[in-house]
Amino acid sequence: MMNLSDTARALVAPGKGILAADESEKSADEKRLTAFGIKTGPEMRRKFRDMLLATPGIEEYLTGVILHEETLSQKGNDGELFPRLLAAKGITPGIKVDQGLEPLAESPSETITKGLLGLPERLTAYHTDYATGFTKWRAAITIDGDRLPTARALVENAKRLATYACEVQKAGMVPLLEPEVLLDGAHGRLRARAVIESVMRVLFDTLNEQCADLSGIIIKTSMAVSGNKSGRQDTPEEVAEDTLGALMETVPAEVAGIVFLSGGQTPDQATANLAAITKLARERNAPWPLTFSYARALQEEALMIWKGEDENVPAAREAFLARLEKVAAATS
Ligand code: G3H
Repeated sequence: MMNLSDTARALVAPGKGILAADESEKSADEKRLTAFGIKTGPEMRRKFRDMLLATPGIEEYLTGVILHEETLSQKGNDGELFPRLLAAKGITPGIKVDQGLEPLAESPSETITKGLLGLPERLTAYHTDYATGFTKWRAAITIDGDRLPTARALVENAKRLATYACEVQKAGMVPLLEPEVLLDGAHGRLRARAVIESVMRVLFDTLNEQCADLSGIIIKTSMAVSGNKSGRQDTPEEVAEDTLGALMETVPAEVAGIVFLSGGQTPDQATANLAAITKLARERNAPWPLTFSYARALQEEALMIWKGEDENVPAAREAFLARLEKVAAATS
């Protein structure tokens, strides 16, 4: 039987990464299906998941896939539950356990993540009924000049992330803590770096006060990139310097691994930036493994080809696999 830190290390194994396929029903419908001209609803969401998860050969590049609750109990075209289909390929099924964002009372232009209510019971059910091995909790941190984020937003989100992490470890699973620093805004890369550092400092101070075993957690972070309204395009070397710099300043060496979200970068940008970060990490002997946990940057090209049509599935899967191969190669 693997302990938590072994499970966490296996999820960040060299040359592989994690697919985020955990969009809520609303996000899947609006941001994945409608956005690509595809019909919505439970059956189309099921077909969307099948197009990705039943792609032959994904196990060469993926250690884990994060699912949404709806997908746990859906079946692939072969009649197998999605978590079992993944496990049969040697891929660990994970589950997003937060329940989305709501305005933070003290600063309503910022958000706090919901989902602690009833969490222990849900965790037991996911682990027992679907053999999930890890979980995700996402907080969203907004940058607006020097005004946002507020200290309050960092502290409140860190408290919930830490409580979540302890509950998940008690339930025998690995928590993946995702304090996403949003790409939206006119800020520069150095501001993004400074915010990532603040977020991580507050988070690890809070985790240290609670029960979490750092060797059994994975951090999911944004890269330090200029905001999407800044008019700036950072080079991969600049992104690597500031992303790795921020993480080496703030993330303890005991943490099992760090994975990146793509955050609205194009597939090519997310691939090139990851390659530059992992190269620099090797040169500087970073203490933790680094890899990807992308949603959009892995899915976009396949969605564009699929268009919701069964006859396009083979070509869409080919594009998905080709992007996976490039992103996985960027880590080694
Ligand atoms: O919560 C966000 C996902 O886990 C990562 O998505 O790669 O599209 O930013 P993304």
